[in-house]
Amino acid sequence: MCFCWFVCVCVCEYVYTDDWDIYSFHINSTVSSRYATTVITSRVANRMDESKEIEFQVRIPKNAFISKFRMFIDGQAYDGVVKSKEAAKQQYTDAVSQGQSAGIVSSVGRTLEEFKTSVNVAAHKKVTFELTYEELLKRKLGKYELQIHARPMQPVKDFKVDVYIHEKAGINIMEVKGGLSTNAMANAITKTHSDTQAWVYFYPTEDQQKTCDHCGEQGMNGDLVIVYDVNRDNSFGDIKKSSGYFVHHFAPSNLARIPKNVAFVIDQSGSMYGRKIQQTRTALIRILNDLAEEDHFGLITFDSSLFHWKRELVQATEENLASAKTFALQIQDRGATDINQAVLEGARMLNANPREGSASILILLTDGDPTSGVTNLEVIQSNVRKAIAGEFPLYCLGFGFDVNFEFLEKMSLQNNGVARRIYEDSDAELQLKGFYEEVATPLLTDVTMVYEGGINLTQTNFSQYYNGSEIVVAGQITDNDIGTFTPQVVAQRNRKVVNIQRVWAYLTVKQLLEKELRLSGPEKESAKKEALELSLKYSFVTPLTSMVVTKPPGESSDVLHKPKEGEAPQTPTSNVRQYGLMPSSLSLPLCYGVYGVVSLKLLHHPNKGQSFFSL
Ligand SMILES: *[C@@H]1O[C@H](CO)[C@@H](O)[C@H](O)[C@H]1NC(C)=O
Ligand SMILES: *[C@@H]1O[C@H](CO)[C@@H](O)[C@H](O)[C@H]1NC(C)=O
Ligand SMILES: *[C@@H]1O[C@H](CO)[C@@H](O)[C@H](O)[C@H]1NC(C)=O
Ligand SMILES: *[C@@H]1O[C@H](CO)[C@@H](O)[C@H](O)[C@H]1NC(C)=O
Repeated sequence: MCFCWFVCVCVCEYVYTDDWDIYSFHINSTVSSRYATTVITSRVANRMDESKEIEFQVRIPKNAFISKFRMFIDGQAYDGVVKSKEAAKQQYTDAVSQGQSAGIVSSVGRTLEEFKTSVNVAAHKKVTFELTYEELLKRKLGKYELQIHARPMQPVKDFKVDVYIHEKAGINIMEVKGGLSTNAMANAITKTHSDTQAWVYFYPTEDQQKTCDHCGEQGMNGDLVIVYDVNRDNSFGDIKKSSGYFVHHFAPSNLARIPKNVAFVIDQSGSMYGRKIQQTRTALIRILNDLAEEDHFGLITFDSSLFHWKRELVQATEENLASAKTFALQIQDRGATDINQAVLEGARMLNANPREGSASILILLTDGDPTSGVTNLEVIQSNVRKAIAGEFPLYCLGFGFDVNFEFLEKMSLQNNGVARRIYEDSDAELQLKGFYEEVATPLLTDVTMVYEGGINLTQTNFSQYYNGSEIVVAGQITDNDIGTFTPQVVAQRNRKVVNIQRVWAYLTVKQLLEKELRLSGPEKESAKKEALELSLKYSFVTPLTSMVVTKPPGESSDVLHKPKEGEAPQTPTSNVRQYGLMPSSLSLPLCYGVYGVVSLKLLHHPNKGQSFFSL
C-alpha cells in the first residue's frame, strides 16, 4: 500500500503492472410474459501482489428498476439494501456533508443508465459482482424490444449473453438487432425459437470482441436488441394469474381504425433556429403525408404570437394537405415562447370540432420553457387541464435539453397523455415521426377494464388504445372471489415462471410515481407514501429509494439512486462511510404461471356504440 506520500502514489503507478482481469462476464436475461429479469455477473481476479480497487460499471435500460446487487469476496456475500432515500441519506451523512452527490447511477444517452461501483480486492483474490434489474417490456409499433448493453470494459475470455423468452401465447416473430448484431458477429449469435419459447445466445470470442464495429482494445461497447411479438388469437387478451395476483395483456389488432382529429401545436420560437426547425418541418410534412382522408387536422405554430394555418380543423383532403405542407415549409424561427396560449388554442380547436366516432389528439412540440404570456407553470397546467377536461389526450414532445421536461411530463399525465424527449441529433426527424406513428392508428377510445373480484388494480382506464401498443393491467384477486377464476396449472415440466406479483408491483410503482408527479397536496403525499412502501417491499431502486451498496468492513460505501430523465451525468463518488454489513433477504418468490378466466367488461367502440366483451 502506498497512500503515504504523493510522490509514492505516482511511483506506484509505474512500479506495479496493472495485472487484473475480468475472466468471466455473463448477462442472463429471462423474459416471461414480457417481464424481463436480467442478471449481470462479472468475475474479476486481482493477479497482483498488491490490493487493487476493482471497478464494476454497466449500463442498463432506463425503464428498469435495479432490484438486487451483491458482491462475493472471499466466500462472503455482500448484499445491497434498498432503503428510502432519507434513510440512506441519514446513514451516510458523511458523504452529504462533504458536498458529494452520493449517486452512482447516471443517465447516459437516450435509453440507458450507468451503474458504477468499486471495491478493494486483496492480492491474488477474486471478486464477483452480480446486478439484477427488472423491467416490463412495452409494446411499441407491434413489437417488444429487450435491449442488452454489452460493455465489459475489456475483452473477456468467457463472455456470454443468454436470453430466454417464454410467452404462453406463442412467439410469432423474433429478430436480433442492435449495433453488435453485425456480419462479423454472425457466428457468435445463435437464435432458436419454438412455439412458446425463444433462446438467443451471444458468445463472441476475444478476437471478435476487439475487432467488431462497436469494439476496440477495450472490448465491446454496444447493444444487442431482441425484438419479438406474440400471437394474439384471442382479441380479448390473455390473462394469467398466480398466488393471488393476475396480469391481463390486451392488444387486439383486428379492429377497424377510428378516424382521428389531430391538432399539431408547434413551437417556432427563436431557440428552434437551425437544424431543429428544419427537422421539425421535414417531420411535419412526412406526418401530414400519412394522414388518412377521413382524418381531420389543425396546425398552429407559436412564438409569443399564434399563427394558424386554418382557424378550425379541416378534413385531410389532398388539397388541404398540399396547402398545409406549404404552410409547414414556411415555418420560421422567431420570438419568445407562449405555451399557454398555444395549447389552449389547440384545445379550443379540438373542442369546437367534436365528431362522434373519432379520436381527438393534441400534440405539442416545444424546445423551451414558457417565456411569454402566462409563464407560471402551475397556472398553465391548471388552464390546460380545464380546457381539455379529460376529453382527449395531450402528448408533449420536448425537443432537446433546454425544456423543463418535468413540466411537460406533468402536463401530459394530467391529460391522459405522455411526454417524450426528442434528442437533438441527426435523427430527430425520425424520432418525431416515430412518436407520431405510435399514436397514428387509434382503435379504441375511453377504454375501461373491469375486473370483478380484483383489487389493488393498476390503471384500468385508458383514454385511447392504438394499434401496435398494448394495455397491461395487473391486480390482486380477493379471496372470496377466487371462484370466479378457474385456473389451470401450467405443466410442471414447463420450468418457465411468471412472476405476476412483481409485474403488479412494477406497474403499480410506475403509476404511483406518475400520480405523484401529476397531483399535489395530500393526494401527492399519499401516492408518494404508497410508492415508497412498495419500492421498499419489492426492493426496487426507484426515484424514492436508494440502494446502499454493502462492502467489506472498513471500506467506503456507495449509495445508488435512480437518476431523473435527462439528468446530467453525475461524477460518481464513493467516499461514504460504511456502517457494517447489512444482510438482506431479497429472495424473489417465483410462482408458476397458471391460466385463468376472468370476466372482462369492455369498451366504447365509437363507431359501433358501446360494445361488451367478456371472456
Ligand atoms: C439464467 O437465469 C435463469 C433464471 O434465474 C436460470 O434458470 C438459468 O439457469 C440462468 N442461465 C444461465 C446460463 O446462467
Ligand atoms: C394494425 O397492425 C397490424 C399489424 O401490426 C395490421 O395488420 C393491421 O392492419 C393494423 N390495423 C389497422 C387498422 O391499421
Ligand atoms: C390491497 O387492497 C387491500 C384491500 O383494499 C388493502 O388493505 C391493501 O393495503 C392493499 N395492498 C396494497 C399493497 O396496496
Ligand atoms: C374509469 O372510467 C369509468 C367509466 O368511464 C368511470 O366511471 C370511472 O370513474 C373511471 N375511473 C377512473 C379511476 O378514472
